[in-house]
Amino acid sequence: MDDRVAEALAASIPRYRDLPGGLLPLLHALQAKLGCVPPEAVPAIASALQLSRAEVHGVISFYHDFRSEPAGAHVLQICRAEACQAMGSRALEAHAKTRLGIDFGETTADGRVTLEPVYCLGNCACSPSVRLDEEIHARVDAARLDALLAGLGEVVGG
Ligand code: FES
Repeated sequence: MDDRVAEALAASIPRYRDLPGGLLPLLHALQAKLGCVPPEAVPAIASALQLSRAEVHGVISFYHDFRSEPAGAHVLQICRAEACQAMGSRALEAHAKTRLGIDFGETTADGRVTLEPVYCLGNCACSPSVRLDEEIHARVDAARLDALLAGLGEVVGG
């Protein structure tokens, strides 16, 4: 196991092991330290909390906030919920994937952008919406998305 992962587990497990519902705060603590919850940490987490590996994995994959790998320098989230889909987010999603050369859950080879789905940004009246890092953008079309990516200061993808 990677030393950083082992250290993060050693620091976090004792704090949450005996806490009712301690799995979620433990996962958040690991992601805060490591930028993700590495798959190699799952057996140790399961053992410490007396859960099965499948249970731990199920929680990690259920909550979209948890990552298995650290994100890139920027995170682009495209809303896939109903209102945004009705206003063309599927086409936007396809454009983003082509533009960046990656699928959801992946990071560009240069490490600049991670692309993720999100399920409602609370901005349904101005669909389709995306979030780039901490900022939400409304009524985004392909050209606007390209401008946002260009605004990151570096050419991304192809
Ligand atoms: S459905 Fe996309 S912001 Fe609500």
